[in-house]
This record gives sequence, structure tokens and C-alpha cells, in this order.
Amino acid sequence: MFGLTHPTPPSWAALAAGDLPSFLVDHAHAEMKAATSALALATRPDATYDMRLSLTAIAQEEIAHFRDVLAILEARGISLGAPAVDTYAAELRKAAVSPGDRTGRHGFVDRLLVAALIEARSCERFRLLSRELAAQHHVLAAFYEGLLASEARHYTTMVDLAVAAGGAEEVVRDRLTVLARAEGTIVARLGVRPTVHG
Ligand SMILES: [Fe+2]
Ligand SMILES: [Fe+2]
Repeated sequence: MFGLTHPTPPSWAALAAGDLPSFLVDHAHAEMKAATSALALATRPDATYDMRLSLTAIAQEEIAHFRDVLAILEARGISLGAPAVDTYAAELRKAAVSPGDRTGRHGFVDRLLVAALIEARSCERFRLLSRELAAQHHVLAAFYEGLLASEARHYTTMVDLAVAAGGAEEVVRDRLTVLARAEGTIVARLGVRPTVHG
């Protein structure tokens, strides 16, 4: 799916469904981070006005998702708690950009591609979880099914923005392939945990 190089193992869905409190807390934080990341990208010097509009629209959707998950936590009497250390995102960002190029155009393209891959991984796992929950948790299964379309659209938008920012589509798509390989290695190394990403 979306060029992900390491499919999430089938055992993941049962693990996440069996520890919904942990998964939902992680998911809430993931939506908050997606919103702040999209907003941060919207302020990058290389972004055009249209890119800023697209990125702030994504940020607004992520805030809406964050509120949706907060409501689910509240209804289930689960407290949000502090976010866990996000090794997945930290390692992915480290794999993406050399330290000297964090602020330049390549840095911007890489950050957009990293955001795209994070969206792709969310989408993949929401689909797995939705299927896992379908038999016993209809409402939650429908919620995750509903999020799929949104996260898939975010993936496409982030890749389109990277192509627009990078100038040469082939080069940007090659870079996406390289980063997808790095993402797969990180996910494989982190193992199976009740989280949206690594
Ligand atoms: Fe989201
Ligand atoms: Fe998203």
C-alpha cells in the first residue's frame, strides 16, 4: 500500500484491538502531531501560498481527528496522559535529511515525503484495525474506516506538494522510494506494538 516496503504484520491488529486504551492514547497524540507537523510545514520559507493553504487545511482536519479521538477517550474513561517517546518519527526524520540541509529546499521536500509516509502508515494500520474490530466494535470499526479516506488523501497531497516543491517529479519519486525503504527498516526494527506507527 502506497509503496510501503514493510507491511505491518497481521498479528499487529489483534494486539492493538486487545489493548485499545494504549492504542487510542497513541492515536490521539499521533493526530495532534500530524496537525502540528502540517502547520510547521506551512510556515517553511520554500512553501508557496497555495502550499500553505493545502497544509493548513490538512492541519485543520488533523485537529478534527484529534478531537474525535479525545471524545472516544472521554467516553471510555481513558485519560490522555503524556506522549510516549516517538522513536519512529524521530528516526524517520533523521534518515530523511542531512543535518546541513534541514532548512533548504531539499529539507522541505524530505519533510513533505516523511509526512506522506507517516500518513501512509496510518492509513495501512487503520484499515487493518477496522477489519479486526468489525465483529465486536462496530462503532469504532466504522470510525477507523472513515479515517482511511482522509489519511489516504493526505498522503496524496503531501506527495503532490513534494513534487511541486522539488521541481523534478522523477527525482522526488525516487527519493520517496529511498525514504519508504528507510521507513520499512524502522518499522521492522521497532517490532509489533499497539501504536499507529512504529
Ligand atoms: Fe488524521
Ligand atoms: Fe492525516
